[in-house]
Amino acid sequence: MTADDARRRFDDATAAHLTAPLGDGVTIRSCDAPGWKAVADPLWADDPRPPPPIGSLYPPEAAARLADLAAVQGEPLAHRLVFEHGGEPVGAYFGLQESFGRYFMASTVFRRDFQRRGLYRALLPRIVAACVDAGFVEIYSRHRADNNPILVPKLRQGFTIAGFEVSPRYGLLVHLRRYLIDGVDALFHYRFDGTGAATLRAAGMSLP
Ligand SMILES: CC(C)(COP(=O)(O)OP(=O)(O)OC[C@H]1O[C@@H](n2cnc3c(N)ncnc32)[C@H](O)[C@@H]1OP(=O)(O)O)[C@@H](O)C(=O)NCCC(=O)NCCS
Repeated sequence: MTADDARRRFDDATAAHLTAPLGDGVTIRSCDAPGWKAVADPLWADDPRPPPPIGSLYPPEAAARLADLAAVQGEPLAHRLVFEHGGEPVGAYFGLQESFGRYFMASTVFRRDFQRRGLYRALLPRIVAACVDAGFVEIYSRHRADNNPILVPKLRQGFTIAGFEVSPRYGLLVHLRRYLIDGVDALFHYRFDGTGAATLRAAGMSLP
């Protein structure tokens, strides 16, 4: 097993789940980082509550050291998707590999006139399927606590609130998780209210 195997599985999973049209005449295209940014930035410019840019708060030396640290980790596996209708960009999605088999759904945005048409509802299970096939064991995301348009579809599709955070850029954030290994998901839910104990014991886990 090598990094090449992981890359091949990731690319195969992307091709299998994240290339067919999304529906409503909207197609999906993968692109590189500059191409994705060129689409995503104008779409996010429509955000009525843009977060403050914090880059200017970093002294130059701190910023340089931060870039050095990122270079140690190298380029993570990532999905940079652009959604198009009639050749026009109408949405963008970015998600990437983190440590310990975790996948971070970092950013999704649809142009205002393409929101509330079920596009995200259609996209989410395809992201999950691509993550499963690529070998990730959990999916993580964080959202403004009042962002119902993203929280509601995720909670409806099996994501669960795993925590809260006050972030410098966004304020109060809700952390969501979806564990992709059945036993780990059962253990996660067992932590809430003890449900799933029988499943876990049957899988050989000793519980109090
Ligand atoms: C969040 C976002 C990606 C959702 O995409 P979408 O394609 O509009 O969502 P869908 O149409 O698939 O909606 C799925 C469900 O979510 C809920 N929902 C969507 N928009 C909602 C809204 N404005 N208010 C309340 N619930 C909403 C509904 O339950 C909806 O199902 P329904 O239409 O059958 O009632 C989109 O609203 C968006 O681009 N928002 C701006 C950027 C953003 O905040 N991104 C998330 C942070 S990463």
